[in-house]
Amino acid sequence: MIRVAIMASGTGTNAKALLKAESELSDVSVELVITDKIDAGVIEISKSFSKPIEVIEKKESTKTEHESRIKKTLKDYKIDWIFLAGYMRILSSDFIDSFFDSNIQQSRIINIHPSLLPHFRGLNAYERAYEEKSEHIGISIHFVDGGMDTGKIILQERFQSDFNHGFEEFKEQGLALEHKLYPHVLKNLPLIQQKGHL
Ligand code: GAR
Repeated sequence: MIRVAIMASGTGTNAKALLKAESELSDVSVELVITDKIDAGVIEISKSFSKPIEVIEKKESTKTEHESRIKKTLKDYKIDWIFLAGYMRILSSDFIDSFFDSNIQQSRIINIHPSLLPHFRGLNAYERAYEEKSEHIGISIHFVDGGMDTGKIILQERFQSDFNHGFEEFKEQGLALEHKLYPHVLKNLPLIQQKGHL
């Protein structure tokens, strides 16, 4: 059994999609949800799936202290893989290295990013793509490395928009694709763990 933790800072719609998919899997199990925000929507979502939720706020602690509390919790739950689902902090290289898998030469940390990487790295990717009426719109799921949304791509898909509707509709379109692709990656985690790709 592969033991997964989800880390999220916000609404938690991706966490919800992962938890829904996980209930039908026999070889992958979400053992824990971690959030750094006391009021994150993901807290209620985790509870509704009867999953342990750990709120680990940063508050006045340093990044190193905050991450070491997270690492301890991950260790307590014997977590093998982390799925970042709207976790809005940059992880340090020390943290990423502590999840490095020498077999696949990647960290066992996966992120979903709301753009067709390498386009629109960083914050507010949907907003920027929409404003530019970019032709490079899509969703990317990638291994986490030391850079900002630079890790090796696991799965990527484009979507189409004529930008004639409002931003909310555009974002909904993107999120619907996120909710389809991220569970697909979770389901295929045994393969990814073995081969380093889908
Ligand atoms: C999602 O769109 C996710 O791709 C994005 O945050 C949102 C979280 O929504 N992640 C990033 O921008 C990471 N850089 P959710 O809380 O409803 O899953």
